[in-house]
Amino acid sequence: MSYLDNFLFGYYPYICLSVFLIGSLIRFDRDQYTWKSDSSQLLRAGQLRLGSNLFHVGVLFLLFGHTFGMLTPHFLYEAVISAGTKQLLAMVSGGLFGLLGFAGVSILLHRRLSDDRIRINSKTSDVVLLVLLWLQLALGLATIPLSAQHLDGSMMLKLAGWAQHIVTFQAGAPELLEEASPVFKLHMFLGMSIFLIFPFTRLVHVWSGFGTAAYLVRPYQLVRSRRLGLVEREPLSRNPR
Ligand code: HEM
Repeated sequence: MSYLDNFLFGYYPYICLSVFLIGSLIRFDRDQYTWKSDSSQLLRAGQLRLGSNLFHVGVLFLLFGHTFGMLTPHFLYEAVISAGTKQLLAMVSGGLFGLLGFAGVSILLHRRLSDDRIRINSKTSDVVLLVLLWLQLALGLATIPLSAQHLDGSMMLKLAGWAQHIVTFQAGAPELLEEASPVFKLHMFLGMSIFLIFPFTRLVHVWSGFGTAAYLVRPYQLVRSRRLGLVEREPLSRNPR
């Protein structure tokens, strides 16, 4: 194992995860007015609906797919699905949603750079983020032909093993990647780097996107009755105004 591999796949993941979690907390605490998706819809609605929808559908599927696919231990699913079949499933679904996301982010990047109003109103981080997401999706798609070279799922098990070693703080994670192609490694490095820059960009809106699920279990609102001046408990949906 080279020193670089050891650092990038043994230590760097923890640096990225710490900055992601602590950085998000500090940004939320100190800078709530900047905590937003920073939509540019008011500057130009054109291309946004198609680009943004394609991108979000693709990337949200990939986010859940990567999380559950990489972090579910092999023994939990081996009775139901073999490693080879799981890999094929990941290649087909990841390829499909990866293409959707890639088409979407290409439209968003083109829109951001080609429209003067949007370009002038963009922060450097807005453009850098879209370029990084474009590269990350392209690299992810480039791993599919490589996975097709070992359809038994053996490489997928090693990559998932790496992620599981990292989140469970086990030693020996970088060694699992000894035979991994540089394309996989680059995809993983860039993926971790996106977590690293997360708190400093508009990506913080992803926390809020998932936070909206709390609406489903939110408590009743307290509503004051106009006639009696009494305080009643009534769900918002039953309030005529
Ligand atoms: C959790 C669910 C999410 C919700 C509810 C959400 C919502 C939004 C909204 C309302 C906007 C602004 C309007 C627009 O540009 O479409 C936006 C923009 C954006 N979102 Fe999300 N988002 C989510 C997840 C994600 C994820 C997982 C990523 C990437 C990893 C992401 C990356 C972006 C980017 C890069 C933009 C800017 C697009 C541009 O204007 O160039 N979002 N999102």
